[in-house]
Amino acid sequence: MKSANAISDSLGVEYAPPARRADGKWHVTRYADVARALREPRLSAERGATWHTRAPHPLLQTLRRWTRAEGAVAELRGHWLALNDPPEHTRLRSIVQPIWTKHIRREHERIGALIQEQVVHLAGAGTVELNERFASPVSLQLAAMLLGLPLDIPPEIVRALLDIKVLFGTIRDASARQLAQANHMVEYVARVIAHKRIEPADDLISALITAQHNGAALDDAELTALVLLLLITAYRTPFYFLGGALELVLQDAHSFEIFRGTKSERALATEELLRVTTSADSTERIVKTEMELGGAQFARGETLYLNLLAANHDAAQFSAPDELNFTRAPNPHLAFGAGAHVCLGAGLARLEAELVFGAIAEMIPQMQLLAARAQSNHLSHRYKPAELWVRV
Ligand code: HEM
Repeated sequence: MKSANAISDSLGVEYAPPARRADGKWHVTRYADVARALREPRLSAERGATWHTRAPHPLLQTLRRWTRAEGAVAELRGHWLALNDPPEHTRLRSIVQPIWTKHIRREHERIGALIQEQVVHLAGAGTVELNERFASPVSLQLAAMLLGLPLDIPPEIVRALLDIKVLFGTIRDASARQLAQANHMVEYVARVIAHKRIEPADDLISALITAQHNGAALDDAELTALVLLLLITAYRTPFYFLGGALELVLQDAHSFEIFRGTKSERALATEELLRVTTSADSTERIVKTEMELGGAQFARGETLYLNLLAANHDAAQFSAPDELNFTRAPNPHLAFGAGAHVCLGAGLARLEAELVFGAIAEMIPQMQLLAARAQSNHLSHRYKPAELWVRV
């Protein structure tokens, strides 16, 4: 198998005990340390999301003034499933997980049909940029279909889904445009929920509206946060993953062929693409109680930056880690995280990838890579091509 990029060597990831960097965070890169941190109950996932409960945050105050979706925005980040600890996290996850799993299982056929249709549409298109023409629309339409949203999500909402720093609270000085965009997106979701309360359908959002945990349903803010999180995650990460994985596969003329193989060959190939690309490249945790990890000692309140991409390329865990090896087994990668917050959509992402690569192998095996441009030289962007030009 050909070599993927020697990321650990060329981009300067150091596999050493956790070290504090200039940003004040402890950077964790070794597989064993990251895997342990993800499962560590003394580390909290509550970050940013609960600024408003710890101290009034100017950004949230501004958002509150901008919104007409009463209270939803102000409380939004406090309700992100991904940014909560037990018991809140357990309650939210136990509501959404069974409904999500049931819907994905039920929608297998429609997922396959939608992907097939997009690949047919692509075949014979000539020279195209694959992110815009394929990876983005296929991911977006699947996300919309699964949630029960109209497939033609307005372009300004799509733009907002790709620029979610304001909602995730990763920037403090948001511009008026970003605030307006975030607000617009929240209102869009709140409107859909309000509509489905009046006219329920046989879809995921309607099921979440009526779902209960210990006799209590989700309130409006919780529902808005959950639906928005599902829309964002179901669209963005598969989009980035497909772009990065397509680039890798296209670098090897014979790679698509593997997706015409047996079920287990296809599954192994998908896991390897997930490992190499690690499109959700990092996450963070906050230290709840003083503790030790990988030889470093952390104090309460400190932040750990868990570098999932580096962990998935750690030679101490994976032999020839920068090589794309479609027969790698076992492949215990951390592309979907691990522990309580392990990715809710992992099954869908795997299914989507296998169907997409299978359909391309079937219908356009001759697809040829013309040029690819990474989003930047930053390590986390290595496998997220901004442009992927192909001839089909
Ligand atoms: C290749 C595609 C995907 C990748 C690489 C990916 C990666 C991840 C990772 C690493 C986490 C854990 C974050 C942490 O521990 O802080 C996560 C969580 C999550 N993912 Fe994904 N994801 C993908 C697709 C999806 C899809 C299709 C959905 C659909 C809804 C989704 C929904 C979620 C949700 C809701 C969480 C939060 C779970 C929780 O906190 O309990 N993801 N994902």
